[in-house]
Amino acid sequence: MRLPQFGIFAQGTVAHEFIEFDLRPEVDKAAAGRLITQLQQPQVAAGGVNLVIAFGADLWRQLAPDEAPASLGPFREIAGLDKRRAPATQHDVFVWISGSSSDVVFEHSRAAVSAISDVAVVATEQACFVHRDSRDLTGFIDGTKNPPLLEAPLAALVPPGEPGAGGSHVLAMRWVHDLARFETLSQAEQEQVFGRTKPDSVELDDERKPANAHIARVEILDDHGDELEIYRRGVPYGTIAEHGIYFVAFAADRERFDRMLARIFGLADGMRDRLTDFSRPVTGAMYFAPPLTLLGLKEIPLHESEEILRKIPLFDRCSAQQLRFIASRVRSREYPAGATLCKQGQGADEFFVIVDGSAQVRRDASILRTMGPGDFFGEIALIDEGPRTATVVSSSPMRCLVIESQQFRSVLGQNADIAVHILDAVTQRLRALLPHDSEA
Ligand code: HEM
Repeated sequence: MRLPQFGIFAQGTVAHEFIEFDLRPEVDKAAAGRLITQLQQPQVAAGGVNLVIAFGADLWRQLAPDEAPASLGPFREIAGLDKRRAPATQHDVFVWISGSSSDVVFEHSRAAVSAISDVAVVATEQACFVHRDSRDLTGFIDGTKNPPLLEAPLAALVPPGEPGAGGSHVLAMRWVHDLARFETLSQAEQEQVFGRTKPDSVELDDERKPANAHIARVEILDDHGDELEIYRRGVPYGTIAEHGIYFVAFAADRERFDRMLARIFGLADGMRDRLTDFSRPVTGAMYFAPPLTLLGLKEIPLHESEEILRKIPLFDRCSAQQLRFIASRVRSREYPAGATLCKQGQGADEFFVIVDGSAQVRRDASILRTMGPGDFFGEIALIDEGPRTATVVSSSPMRCLVIESQQFRSVLGQNADIAVHILDAVTQRLRALLPHDSEA
């Protein structure tokens, strides 16, 4: 299985920036595409932000014609019922940067724009924020029925064996809400617009849920009657004057988006989504987010990552499914001898497992220990995201598996055994740092 772009599934970040680019007219598309894939390099992707890169259909076909799903194509304008409309504003490249604070996301976004400025110009950008407990600005919780993390890849990724396997179709639309109009409705009426209760997102029973409620309109089935899902990552944005949701979703095939949109805008069966009385899209584009391999990144095959993780005591009580989940989220990184992998006192949010090579752990002027294959470090960052307690420097060329703390936390939430192991490791290492007379 090919590794997907991790950012698609990264949870827990509160600051988001979505940037859509047009290629400069005179550039060589293949060369431009190659440069854009370099965005994954540390100056943009390191330092605790998640990055997702996706390409418009034309550009992706130029870059990797054998890896373009047949259905890949630009967003097409939708002229729906009652003059409801979804305009097409297709661009060439889509970049989504998310992180734990707006300043960090801003800095990385600037770095991304500058890194590709010779070949691409910003066509549109939107900074977004998480609103309360992941609520849309209408006050309704958004994401309740999203597939859980372990199932999300099924909904979001092109299946193995197909062109573009491990990649994802991306739909990006900026919607502008008419909150003043929505707020003239009583809470019961608002709940009928979405089909869920407002405080706690419970689905209305069939008698109370109108056929034009949002969640009834977006429900589509396959030939066996099973629900076809997408993985939604939309986030609110706005000023007082104009606000709404930057709707972003990932899907295993494009048809799911087309079918849902046709039902929302009343083209499927003559009924449109009630939500279109209170919100309207002002942009619409489709992209393809290739898997990491096709972005030219070196990777350790998933089964090898799983094998490496399985040998580490920290993970020995994980189920096969949990191990596969963790393995699908680790990145492989290589370092020359003498590289500083993390620095005492600096902010941190990554956990490392050494695959090959060795490293020294230093604190102030002293060497605390040497680590080798199977050893791990960075676990304290998993708990508090505070500064590093030691410096780690490679003493030979090294290969590591690296996982971001937010990804890891979702694993901890599902496996108490791992959480206990982590606590053990943290306690032992903290004790080792304490002077002997303070160990009590
Ligand atoms: C103004 C734009 C939109 C808003 C404010 C919005 C908001 C919501 C909310 C509050 C829910 C219910 C909670 C949940 O399950 O997440 C929901 C569900 C959902 N939405 Fe949207 N949405 C918007 C546009 C779209 C679009 C354009 C699509 C598809 C192309 C879509 C697909 C879905 C799906 C698949 C569900 C889950 C339905 C279920 O199975 O219960 N939404 N949305």
